[in-house]
Formats: sequence, structure tokens, C-alpha cells
Amino acid sequence: MTAPIVAIDGPAGAGKSTVARQLARKLGFSMIDTGAIYRSVALVARRADVAWDDDEGLRKLLDTGLGLSFQEDRVLLKGHDVTEAIRTPEISRGASVVSARPVVREKLLGLQRELGLHAPRGAVLEGRDIGTVVFPDAQVKFFLTASDEARARRRHDELAEKGLPVPLEEVLTDQRRRDKDDTERAIAPLKPAPDAILVDTTGLDLEAVVDRCYREAQTRLRHLISGQS
Ligand code: DC
Repeated sequence: MTAPIVAIDGPAGAGKSTVARQLARKLGFSMIDTGAIYRSVALVARRADVAWDDDEGLRKLLDTGLGLSFQEDRVLLKGHDVTEAIRTPEISRGASVVSARPVVREKLLGLQRELGLHAPRGAVLEGRDIGTVVFPDAQVKFFLTASDEARARRRHDELAEKGLPVPLEEVLTDQRRRDKDDTERAIAPLKPAPDAILVDTTGLDLEAVVDRCYREAQTRLRHLISGQS
């Protein structure tokens, strides 16, 4: 039997990363940050001088292989740590652009499925289209949302903590542009799966959200993970 899959989708700053990481830890599952994969494509393209909308160039890069790996919370490209380099405002914009290219989505679909299905005990994947496209049969699906301001404030604080201070207004403007691109793109737009559990995290302590998601996941996965501790 393949490993159970938990999908966490939603817009930037809704708390997906924190919730996915903690939920994965509690369940003993692997956590796969699919946004980091799109961000890595944007970074590799920038470094190779390939425009983010150059489909042929992107196809060649992806055919060559990104050399992407995850080590705990770190993202590595050909062994080099790019965890911070993929989170700059510029690469965030690039990730949004490359993620709208069908060639990129198609090439990354197999990689995301492989990562999920090869997780030893199960996987929590966070992204935009996990419950709708990548794993439409996921055993548990969450769609996290929050108000624009709450989301921008979280992203702003997160960047500041990482030593990358960006004015709140700039984060909000960038976020609105990316939300628009992500929800309006023709392929795999951001939207909740019909069977997703909707969680509005505005004003909620993320610990409380993790607890709620953990309880929901345990109920739905009980028969699959009984015997695991
Ligand atoms: O979650 P994030 O901010 O790290 O995602 C970076 C970009 O990648 C964002 O613009 C949306 C896109 N993305 C996507 O289209 N599909 C996914 N499954 C994950 C991210």
C-alpha cells in the first residue's frame, strides 16, 4: 500500500508551512514544500540567464534536472544550500511566473508525486494544487486561508526573522499580485478541492490550527496509520 497523503493548499501567508511542518512532525510523516520546488526553478533559471517565461529554455533546464534535494528544513540545489536564496522578493515573483507555465507544471508533477509516494510513512504536501491536481485522491485535504493583512503581516515577520527585512506595504503589494496570478492562471489555479476542509487562520494562533488539523487528520487516517506511533 502506498503512503498516506495529506494535502495542504492555500494562498501565501495563510500559515501552510508552519502547519504542514508541525503536522508532519506530529504524524511522523515527511513534509514536502512544493512552493520551494517552483522557487528553485525560478532561481536556477535566473542563474542560467533563462527568462521565466521562456518555455523552451525552462524545458531544457528541467530536462537536465534541477539537482534539488531536501535536508530537514533546508533546500539544496546540487548540494548547495539555497533555503534563503529562494525566499527573496525577486525569486518569489519568478516562482509565480514559472508556476504559470504549463511546461513547468507538467515537468514538476511527476517529481511531486514521486516525493509524496516515496515518503516512508506518509507525506504532508503543501502548495496550491495538491488536493486538486497532484494528489486528487489524498486521504486528507486542508485549504488554509486568512485575510490579506494577516497573511502579509506573517510573511513580513517571517522575512524579518530570517534577516531579510521588507516593508509591510511591499509584502502586501507583492502578495496581491501573486494571489491574482495564482488564482487567475489557466492551469491548476489556486482553489479549494471540493472535499477540502476549509480553515480560516485569521487571528488564530497557528498552534491551535495545528491541533485542529491533527485531530481531523487522525480521524481520517486512523485505519491507515494504526500501528504507527
Ligand atoms: O508557497 P510559495 O509562496 O513558496 O510558492 C511559490 C510560488 O509557487 C507561488 O507563486 C505559487 C507557486 N506554487 C504553485 O503554483 N503550485 C504549488 N503547488 C506550489 C507553489
